[in-house]
Amino acid sequence: MPHPAGPTWEAIDPVRYIANRSSGKQGFAIAAAAAALGARVTLVAGPVALKTPAGVKRLDVESAQEMAETVKRSLPADVAVMVAAVADWRPKEYRGEKIKKRGSAPPALMLTENPDILTNLATGAKRPGLVIGFAAETENVIENAKQKRKRKVADWIVANDVSGDVMGGDMNRVHIVSAEGVETLNEMPKSAVAMALAERIAAAFRAEAAE
Ligand code: C5P
Repeated sequence: MPHPAGPTWEAIDPVRYIANRSSGKQGFAIAAAAAALGARVTLVAGPVALKTPAGVKRLDVESAQEMAETVKRSLPADVAVMVAAVADWRPKEYRGEKIKKRGSAPPALMLTENPDILTNLATGAKRPGLVIGFAAETENVIENAKQKRKRKVADWIVANDVSGDVMGGDMNRVHIVSAEGVETLNEMPKSAVAMALAERIAAAFRAEAAE
């Protein structure tokens, strides 16, 4: 199970980067819960200050491009849980030397789009049987998640409302959006959200195996 989590860093020069705000806590908790239920988890970790959960294989990456390549290399797999807060853009060119502060005008930063790791995985030849994406939204949480599920060709989208202090915090409230409908979980610790999700993944898997 490839499992990208945490933010990505997109280098501007040797000392500066663009990043998303992500502690990686929810993603690491899901890796821990899935491993505890017996899954073989490859945690593709962006730059975060978190301990590797027990029983999890961890591959550290920095940029979205590295994350995309590492996810690809960890296929084939039965399930992919895409929790990473991937930076949508990266600087068009990397400057090998630190950009100098010039007296007046700050440098113009040209950006280019990063690959969408989730969509590429979900539409690729080695698509895992169950592809799960995340959606951090501040408004119209469920409606946006439903659209994202279709647009990204994901089986489930786990939507969380990040208008409060979810980012970096220990609590989370999520909605699991699938073809069957929407399941809303109560607000609970991220570790409990992780276990609830891992249990649903295991159940979906058992149902598929029984078919
Ligand atoms: O479009 P948005 O970034 O809101 O979608 C979030 C979902 O897509 C998450 O599962 C995230 O990990 C994934 N994603 C990705 N590659 C990107 C951007 C988002 O895999 N470049």
